[in-house]
Amino acid sequence: MPRQRSIPTTLALASLTLLATACAEDPFPSDAELQQLLDATRLTSSAPLDATNAHQNDPLAIELGTKLFHDKGLSSCGTISCESCHGGMGLTVDTPLAKGCGGDTAHNPPSLWNVAWLDEFMWDGRADRLWNQAVLPMTNPVEMAATPATVRTLLTTSYAADYQKVFGEPVSATADERILANVSKAIAAYENTLRSPNPRFDEDVARFAAAVKAGTEPQDPSFLGFKVLVRRGACLTCHKGPRLSDSGFHNVGVSDLNAGAAGALLGIDATYDWPYSSRGPHSDDPEGAAANRLLTLRLEIQQRPANFLGARRTPSLRAIGLTAPYMHTGALAKLEDVVDFYSRGGDKEGTFLGAKSVTIVPLNLSNEEKAALLEVLKSM
Ligand code: HEC
Ligand code: HEC
Repeated sequence: MPRQRSIPTTLALASLTLLATACAEDPFPSDAELQQLLDATRLTSSAPLDATNAHQNDPLAIELGTKLFHDKGLSSCGTISCESCHGGMGLTVDTPLAKGCGGDTAHNPPSLWNVAWLDEFMWDGRADRLWNQAVLPMTNPVEMAATPATVRTLLTTSYAADYQKVFGEPVSATADERILANVSKAIAAYENTLRSPNPRFDEDVARFAAAVKAGTEPQDPSFLGFKVLVRRGACLTCHKGPRLSDSGFHNVGVSDLNAGAAGALLGIDATYDWPYSSRGPHSDDPEGAAANRLLTLRLEIQQRPANFLGARRTPSLRAIGLTAPYMHTGALAKLEDVVDFYSRGGDKEGTFLGAKSVTIVPLNLSNEEKAALLEVLKSM
């Protein structure tokens, strides 16, 4: 049955004067807007295949990776595991920064829920595969401060047989760089299994779509929240698809003038000649899709550096209610603060590097709209 719409006649006049206003007056949702909502549901039950990690789906690698992820022996100080900063219900910490072997981290640890569905990792994208990401915290002096010797000792004392079964050679025969790469591949095999349960959001969208078909959507409890999410806030332009992230890079204007404030502009460049990158000697598919993606991304940065200055990888919004505080700085304590942040159009110019994305403008949401958007975020 075609959808019936009654369009106020004043609309035609309004559209002549102000296109944006006219859009805001169109009945919600348009076909395209409904499609955006539908596209944002139904995350696949298993993570996409990463050809650069040949051990991704090996049950023995998953088992070894699970143990290593939780083992404090992977840090030089002996008190920090991956779980120390990526634990609990949110697979993160509840403070803006996390404590490692050498003090506070520079940024807020992202949640690891559904992380294997993303294409780039870290706020600035400086890891281009899930497995090579793990090399960074292991060797970062602030986080786990491990050296290949630390890792070798742990493997020899606790996991010698497991390691040999997965990688087909003894620890002693593996070169230093390779040891870090292998351990990382096992850990990534475990991270691959971290999928959050299907959220209420998926059901709400399905019900809303049925209401649209029946022409009763204005009465649906999600109507206002979805309208703010899709139209007023344009949130799904970046937090899109089943991952609720485009895995792309955008500057939304989060205050930060510290080291690393340049964001993706410098992050991705660092990956290019890194021995652990998707195109490096430890990749199991150095000329495949991931390597091509890295080359394309780097070219894009060289051609349009301004788009990447102060930009960060769009985080997924799945399970977002469990992962406070928010943003790469962890400066926003609650989801309410995130809603206020977008409502005022981000932080003040001059408190961050680069220019905000054109979609980040003051939305001036009413209290009712804020509450409705908050409900939607919590349902994710
Ligand atoms: C001391 C705290 C700490 C420890 C220990 C730690 N991490 Fe993290 N993790 C962070 C922080 C902080 C970030 C964000 C860093 C950035 O982007 O600047 C991060 C980012 C990540 C990301 C990227 C997520 C995304 O959405 O891009 C993954 C994956 C990850 N860590 C996995 C691990 C694994 C695996 C280990 C163990 C080998 C580990 N972490 C150990 C703090 C920690
Ligand atoms: C231009 C792309 C873009 C748009 C539009 C956008 N976001 Fe974001 N969002 C991002 C990026 C990039 C970050 C990370 C920013 C940072 O930490 O510097 C982010 C961060 C967030 C976070 C914090 C996630 C976390 O794990 O810390 C939430 C929640 C969020 N956005 C919700 C929204 C909502 C709600 C809207 C609509 C009102 C919206 N976003 C619109 C790109 C976007």
